[in-house]
Amino acid sequence: MKSFIVAITGASGSIYGLKLVKELLKSGHRVYLCVSDTAFLIIMTETGVNWSGRTEADTEKKIRKYFSSKKIKYFNEGNLFAPLSSGSFLTDGMFVVPCSMKTLSGIAQGYANNLIERAADVMLKEGRKLILAPREMPFSAIHLENMLKLARLGVRMAAPVPAFYQKPEKIDDIVDFVVGKVLDSAGVRHSLFKRWGS
Ligand SMILES: Cc1cc2nc3c(=O)[nH]c(=O)nc-3n(C[C@H](O)[C@H](O)[C@H](O)COP(=O)(O)O)c2cc1C
Repeated sequence: MKSFIVAITGASGSIYGLKLVKELLKSGHRVYLCVSDTAFLIIMTETGVNWSGRTEADTEKKIRKYFSSKKIKYFNEGNLFAPLSSGSFLTDGMFVVPCSMKTLSGIAQGYANNLIERAADVMLKEGRKLILAPREMPFSAIHLENMLKLARLGVRMAAPVPAFYQKPEKIDDIVDFVVGKVLDSAGVRHSLFKRWGS
């Protein structure tokens, strides 16, 4: 069993973040989840799921119920006292899925202005795995420069770009492919899609 930080930020494609968490929990991994304020609204808009609680504990209760798991711990993006803020807290890596251009920029500049940016900063300074699924269309030169800067530091840019050689029939097939590739980027085993040639 491994433990991973998952951050869901305010880009379209929140369904990828939800599926990623489900898959990590299903495989027996522990998940430390952080959801940005905007992401809560986008999750609700895109999937109808409402996780917003009055307090961090309230929100965690809803999230644990949604995933039917106690192996998930939730932290507010403003909680900079959370363990994820410190390099002394050990995890096996971090996913930001989907990753907004704002969070991408914050990570690329080392801004560490909220728990998501700080946890990613910790991954960079400690040389741990950091996988981002940057989502925007089209990308500006600023977005591309931020991605290049991070890629050169060893961050995996697992953009949510589906392939069609799998002949997807429904949205779930596309989501499974993208989340599978995100997991591949971290070396996490899964059976979300049939591999080419297998
Ligand atoms: C419905 C909706 C969809 C959005 N989709 C994207 C997107 O795909 N990519 C992106 O970079 N920003 C997107 N945004 C804008 C971000 O949510 C905004 O920049 C926000 O400040 C990001 O904050 P966060 O990174 O802290 O979540 C979207 C906003 C809304 C309301």
